[in-house]
Amino acid sequence: MGNGNISRCPGMSRVCTLLWKKSVLKLIDQRKLPFKEVYVSCKSADSVAKAIKDMVVRGAPAIGVAAGYGVALAALKFRGEDKEKFADYINENIRLLSGTRPTAVNLFWALDRMKKILTSDKNLEVSKIKIKLIEEAEEIGKQDLEINWKIGQNGKKIFDKATGKIKILTHCNAGALATSGYGTALAVIRSLDAEGKVANVIVDETRPFLQGARLTAWELHQEEIPFFIISDNMAGYFMSIGEVDTVLVGADRIASNGDAANKIGTLSLSILARYYRIPFYIAAPISTVDIKIESGDNIPIEYRDKKEVREVLGKIIIPEYMAVENPAFDVTPAENITAIITEEGVIYPPYKKNIGKIFKSKR
Ligand code: MRU
Repeated sequence: MGNGNISRCPGMSRVCTLLWKKSVLKLIDQRKLPFKEVYVSCKSADSVAKAIKDMVVRGAPAIGVAAGYGVALAALKFRGEDKEKFADYINENIRLLSGTRPTAVNLFWALDRMKKILTSDKNLEVSKIKIKLIEEAEEIGKQDLEINWKIGQNGKKIFDKATGKIKILTHCNAGALATSGYGTALAVIRSLDAEGKVANVIVDETRPFLQGARLTAWELHQEEIPFFIISDNMAGYFMSIGEVDTVLVGADRIASNGDAANKIGTLSLSILARYYRIPFYIAAPISTVDIKIESGDNIPIEYRDKKEVREVLGKIIIPEYMAVENPAFDVTPAENITAIITEEGVIYPPYKKNIGKIFKSKR
């Protein structure tokens, strides 16, 4: 059982998702886990952009944090004191980073924060803006950790009245690896486990990138939280035999009406959960809500390289002459979502009204 304490790299005993040390961003290479624990060192915005695109780092909040550091690295590379040239250079790098992955809104949210720093004080000289950009990147990472802790605390309260231990099904990886640490959906699981309330976690393997089988399982194993892995098509079976009390997943972008984009396969899970009357929860920071977007129809869905479907861990299983498709996300309609667990509290339907309230109170 995990102890539920927030520490240096919460949720992972030996490694960190992102490490900022001596002006280098080190990212645990999530393509290699759980077989190898190796870090990729990024010394430029270019290398961070490549790491995001290639899924060295993935998961909505982690992508945002990495992009913030990407801008900080660009700032550090700039030579000279010309403010206009500096702003052009930073904006060019922000454009580069924003072109890496289209669905997770946290990427654009973090880059917007960095952009605001660039224009916040017209009287600052380049060297001072550089320091502020680095501080902002660090702050985004630090805040993410605190937010995740709160998500865990808010989420566990939902289960206060549960009489026995809870059987949870999760999809993809919404854990420490998808964030600065501790996770979102996994934050709730970690906080429940700290109170001895988790009976078992069913981990969807999450084809094609296998975030469930390789990453979520790896995190749960480290924390000694009981789990087993299933292939994605087994979820309905386990629901039908009463092995799932609740579904807990993360999100990449939530529209103002509560529709939520998450890893491909989440939509089917939500439909199954509704059929079997199993509560279906999304756990995500408020930064995942894209208030400008009215419904899930407006969320851009990333289509990734078909090679990811054609191959499993580098081995070709579908020959070139057979057609494949690879949408990386789908949208779960708000009506299938029991509640959205955030750092500000648990949001219940009607989402348009209740999400709106949170944003109004923030103005
Ligand atoms: O393609 P990925 O691995 O970046 O997709 C990640 C997910 O879909 C996660 O569930 C989501 O980002 C939430 S992570 C806290």
